[in-house]
Amino acid sequence: MKIAICLTQMKPEPWLESLTSLLPEAEVFVWQPGSPVADHAVVWAPPQAFIDEQAGLKTLFNIGAGVDALLQLRLPSELQVVRLDDAGMSVQMAEYVCHAVIRHFREFDAYERDVREGKWSYRKPHLRSDFSVGVMGLGVLGARVAKTLQAFEFPVNGWSRSAKQLPDVQCFAGMQQLDAFLASSRVLVNLLPLTAETENILNKTNMAKLPPQAYVINVARGRHLVEEDLLDLLESGHLSGATLDVFRTEPLPADHVFWTHPKITVTPHTSARTLREESAAQIANKIKALDQGHPISGLVDRRTGY
Ligand code: NAP
Ligand code: GLV
Repeated sequence: MKIAICLTQMKPEPWLESLTSLLPEAEVFVWQPGSPVADHAVVWAPPQAFIDEQAGLKTLFNIGAGVDALLQLRLPSELQVVRLDDAGMSVQMAEYVCHAVIRHFREFDAYERDVREGKWSYRKPHLRSDFSVGVMGLGVLGARVAKTLQAFEFPVNGWSRSAKQLPDVQCFAGMQQLDAFLASSRVLVNLLPLTAETENILNKTNMAKLPPQAYVINVARGRHLVEEDLLDLLESGHLSGATLDVFRTEPLPADHVFWTHPKITVTPHTSARTLREESAAQIANKIKALDQGHPISGLVDRRTGY
């Protein structure tokens, strides 16, 4: 069995080492133009030339949860695309989102500023019941985030494409329930995949439906958010702030207004990193399962785009 590795923006050698030791019977190699055609490939944002040369490849294992970059390529219809299925990402995402929600809810930024000025200040605590958190996307990551937020007793809403039932989460589904979901979410967390249906979903019309003083956390993709609309709603005071981990252009350009905006917290696409050991082990197990004719989880539906 042949396994090709084709990664942009990261070094392939550690993956080569991990996969070679997990699959000693396979021939694992780092792709370069002219490499032999593989049975399976482990990829991140590969060039079109890779796909074109690897005609006959059976499976593309994406080393991330989001497959938007991959689905922009021309892919043969029979090629299976497999996304990372948690592999240590959901706990990181839960940490990140809970940290952002709690930091905002408890006004820790304001306390930090006061302390720096030597002020022993008091702020009236917010009512937790006024701080419902709405999670857009109740998949692998969104469901874990919703569950973790409940441990802090925030009221939690969730929105997905198909109707869901999650314990103690007020679940909304589809476009027909989007407005009701937004109207009841004081904090909005975006964990949707980037698809034709969800691109620019964090726009002025939708974010204006959030309650006054709402807070936005975007941890999915930069192209979900219309940046000027966020700035306008922060300026008008309708939104109180935002935590953004993902951007339309990454790295965020040095002169971008988000870097220094007083109501925006920026992090460098770090909310849930791919953990190589967990991810390589998951991929190796799936390759073994496929080899033995067993079904695997994490298959991407090319029609819905996630
Ligand atoms: P997932 O398991 O595929 O879940 C996607 C969820 O979104 C599902 O609940 C799905 O609804 C819902 N959804 C999709 N299209 C929708 C629509 N048009 N309307 C309403 N709901 C819709 O994805 P995941 O693993 O949780 O990851 C989500 C995204 O997080 C990834 O695609 C990626 O972009 C992003 N991500 C970011 C980082 C980071 O470090 N910032 C790390 C990992 C992932 P159904 O349940 O009804 O299908
Ligand atoms: C990271 O953004 C991922 O999609 O895994």
